[in-house]
Amino acid sequence: MCGIVGVTGSDNAVKILLDGLQKLEYRGYDSAGIYVNDQNGQDYLVKEKGRIADLRREVGPDVHGSTGIGHTRWATHGVVSVANAHPQVSQDNRFYLVHNGVIDNFQELKSDYLSDVPFTSQTDTEVMVQLVDKLAVDKGLNAHDAFVKALSLLKGSSYAFLLMDREDPETLYVAKNKSPLLIGVGDGFNVVCSDALAMLRETHDFLELMDGEVVTIKPNEVKIENQNGEPVERKTFHVDMDANETDKGTYPFYMLKEIDEQPNVMRRLAQVYLSETGEPVISDKLLNSMKQADRIYIVGAGTSYHAGLVGKRLFENMTQTPTEVHISSEFAYEQPILSKKPFFIFLSQSGETADSREVLVNVNAGGYESLTITNVQNSTLSREATYTLLLHAGPEIAVASTKAYTAQIAIEAILAKALGEADNQIVAQRFDVRHQLGLVATGIQAIVDEKKKIEDLAKSSFLNTPNAFYIGRGIDWSVSLEAALKLKEISYVQAEGFASGELKHGTIALIEKGTPVIGLITQEKTAGLTRSNLQETMARGAHILTIVSESLAKPGDDIILPDVDELMTPLLSVVPTQLIAYYTSLNKGLDVDKPRNLAKSVTVE
Ligand code: F6R
Repeated sequence: MCGIVGVTGSDNAVKILLDGLQKLEYRGYDSAGIYVNDQNGQDYLVKEKGRIADLRREVGPDVHGSTGIGHTRWATHGVVSVANAHPQVSQDNRFYLVHNGVIDNFQELKSDYLSDVPFTSQTDTEVMVQLVDKLAVDKGLNAHDAFVKALSLLKGSSYAFLLMDREDPETLYVAKNKSPLLIGVGDGFNVVCSDALAMLRETHDFLELMDGEVVTIKPNEVKIENQNGEPVERKTFHVDMDANETDKGTYPFYMLKEIDEQPNVMRRLAQVYLSETGEPVISDKLLNSMKQADRIYIVGAGTSYHAGLVGKRLFENMTQTPTEVHISSEFAYEQPILSKKPFFIFLSQSGETADSREVLVNVNAGGYESLTITNVQNSTLSREATYTLLLHAGPEIAVASTKAYTAQIAIEAILAKALGEADNQIVAQRFDVRHQLGLVATGIQAIVDEKKKIEDLAKSSFLNTPNAFYIGRGIDWSVSLEAALKLKEISYVQAEGFASGELKHGTIALIEKGTPVIGLITQEKTAGLTRSNLQETMARGAHILTIVSESLAKPGDDIILPDVDELMTPLLSVVPTQLIAYYTSLNKGLDVDKPRNLAKSVTVE
């Protein structure tokens, strides 16, 4: 949430900042700004409400410089306005600051230290920049020391800060706690970014930062200090990704591109995690840790939580290990009674979700082992867990997650197979994961090839409805939750995912003439029951639709899915629901990739 960029030592600073912000726009898109300094006495602050394209228009041809910072905002404190956009500026126009996170004690700091300062915004960030200035001016501290002193006054806050001092415009000051931030190392220049994606056109070599560290960056120097002010040596890591992978190509929206990429993601996961003979390739250390567990706890938020619900069924069926799935923001503050030997799995596309990270901090403090399944190498959740498995899904840029969900489930299937087989579980032994992933890849391809049909269905059933229901039982219910979330978040249809047997216990009262009710039917033992529940809604006027596995299909069903193992059906049944959400949003004329009020990578709790 909120994207930060910075550069020092490049004549192209404005372009680097704007292009970087464009790549980070998925992290927040309600306002944006840059500050650049040419080190010859000229500097520019440009801020604008709206998208990066709006900011670009505001940045005229005269704006230039060799050092600068930029920000794209997802508002936390203060309405969306130019005044509240970042960079925030100190009262004497000396310090410029961009921030991702929340300063919990900003009100106290304001009244304790800054009662005489005229504030121009409602943001918590302005408190920090005014505080740095106050400490520099009143106490005679240099920028570095004023910054460090101000940081020491923050209580329980999350932040990634990037600060510039007009009196020393070559230098960038950086600090982070909980929020992500990377330094990109170049030849004669250095950059700063919330996500490596933003700077892949400048460098592929990055330095990760740890919480509490403070960094001073000049064109040819990066000085990292720990919390005690001692120098820290750190090696760069290489991000092996082509900058073009982050482009949309000929697609109108990233979401459609990412839906279409799913067959290839399935094939890539089979290549990465299976041997030539189709056996899972999972480290012995990880398997041994998991084998000792008497219970698996899967933790995630949103779509990742939904992928965890499917994971529960995979682990319990193939390993016989009881598995609980928890919403991370709940688990963090209402921890259930843990078993004697718990093992934790964190699901997170971004690897940065603050709610999940809060749980991981507690898990580590308890001395427990954990695995993060994430799309982002070196992300916080990956670094801080005992083990990591990468999703290899390629960058997911649309705010609505699609290919990360299917990749998470595919990895859970591979892991469950490996674990169950290591324990001689018959279901795992019989489960031919390579064959299944092959079927899934061709199955998804067949579904995405039917886009036109799904678009017509979305147009005829979802464009004008205020609400809709996805229903199913068991694993289909798990998918119905994800299907409903997709529809809600990008098309603003009030959608619910529901256990179909539970409808009659209350929710069926909401069914009116024409309410779309979509049944997910992929499990033999519950197919008939879900069909009966659909009939019950139809008798009350619902407009019913079905998404059904081929072997369970009947005349009149709407979307037929190729057959795969019943445990793998979520990987197919979710795809038409992704496309329904996409086409509903598209045909309503909405911004599919950037739905209102949302941002990807939610780094505040
Ligand atoms: C919905 C969506 C979100 C994320 C959630 C967790 O389409 O993308 O619900 O799944 O914010 O994010 P990660 O997976 O990055 O932890």
